[in-house]
Amino acid sequence: MSIRTLDDLLAEGVSGRRVLVRADLNVPLDKQTGEITDDGRIRAVLPTLGALVSAGARVVVCSHLGRPKGSPDPQFSLSPVAGRLGELLGAPVHFATDTVGDSARSTVAGLADGEVALLENLRFNKGETSKDEAERGAFADELAALADAYVDDAFGAVHRKHASVFDVPARLPHVAGRLVLREVEVLSTLTANPERPYVVVLGGSKVSDKLAVIEALLPTVDRLLIGGGMCFTFLKAQGHEVGSSLLEEDMVETCRNLLERSEGKIMLPVDVVAAVAFAPDAEHHVVPADGIPSKRVGLDIGPETVAGFAAALKGSTAGGPTNARTIFWNGPMGVFEMPAFANGTRGVAEAIAEADAFSVVGGGDSAAAVRQLGLDEKSFGHISTGGGASLEYLEGKTLPGIAALEN
Ligand code: 3PG
Repeated sequence: MSIRTLDDLLAEGVSGRRVLVRADLNVPLDKQTGEITDDGRIRAVLPTLGALVSAGARVVVCSHLGRPKGSPDPQFSLSPVAGRLGELLGAPVHFATDTVGDSARSTVAGLADGEVALLENLRFNKGETSKDEAERGAFADELAALADAYVDDAFGAVHRKHASVFDVPARLPHVAGRLVLREVEVLSTLTANPERPYVVVLGGSKVSDKLAVIEALLPTVDRLLIGGGMCFTFLKAQGHEVGSSLLEEDMVETCRNLLERSEGKIMLPVDVVAAVAFAPDAEHHVVPADGIPSKRVGLDIGPETVAGFAAALKGSTAGGPTNARTIFWNGPMGVFEMPAFANGTRGVAEAIAEADAFSVVGGGDSAAAVRQLGLDEKSFGHISTGGGASLEYLEGKTLPGIAALEN
């Protein structure tokens, strides 16, 4: 990769220089209390921030949070993140109440060497996500004016052609941060030369979100295990009734086609936990995957499926490879936020952790599940901070944020 790195920037000397760090601090917040429920993405950017602080840079951090519609919206404020970031860094973080306005300019101007500021949510500005190059460019000009150099450490956002990701690096000396480098290094081993057997586990709610990655992975993987809400469209494609489970009717034919072409690599659930309603305390039973009663909704994979998936990951299955050596997992196996429907995700995560394999957890909900279910993060080879970004990387797409650093 012909990309300059944080070490190159540090070697030039950053003391007293204003360095804009694009981070992905898009952390989940509790809907009631507004508290951060998983700070994994904040911790992931600490190595880059710590190195800049130690080198005496004036560090200006920017990020998006959620999907506000281009104007300030208090529920998406980064203010709680500034507090948590300060705790983790062990020094207060100055918070600007706007992104490129008076507050941002004066906060940055007031920074001493080795101090850190966090700007308010990038997406409070229409220019950040605009499809109009000029509108995006104008916002990028304002952001770039706050700094002398740019570090991209927002792996979770490198698949977005947004001002702070794509346009700012064209305006400032730019390098990749430690997190972006590590993510690309790990994911490139999966696309270039994974040690075999290579087993991929996919879950999450929508087949349509995962179609491109399934297409891209099928020729490469030895086994593809499918759970989560998306499995029901595949079960339907096999001719099974799925009750009131999540179903993408317009994807059934595509799933049927994928199953036909998969050379038996795709493994689907054989049983599911079916409930009378989508609710934490809903009455539920384990039923065969080919016989989900009408008016029942599948909210998790069943125990027999967990055992089968675990065998595919760390043992052997009929007609399949033995003992995976490389594993990629993206997407929960059920509604793990509700304890009654968390067993599938927990069982599969534990099997991945126990497997004698290099395992990569592909960001978003699966990374949050690892932490929320109390699993030891160190049992996994790498927990990506990028959900969509890691999938698009594996699809082989050009990622605007990475392309911008290469220029
Ligand atoms: C993510 O959560 O995957 C990243 O922060 C990107 O967020 P986005 O999908 O809203 O662009």
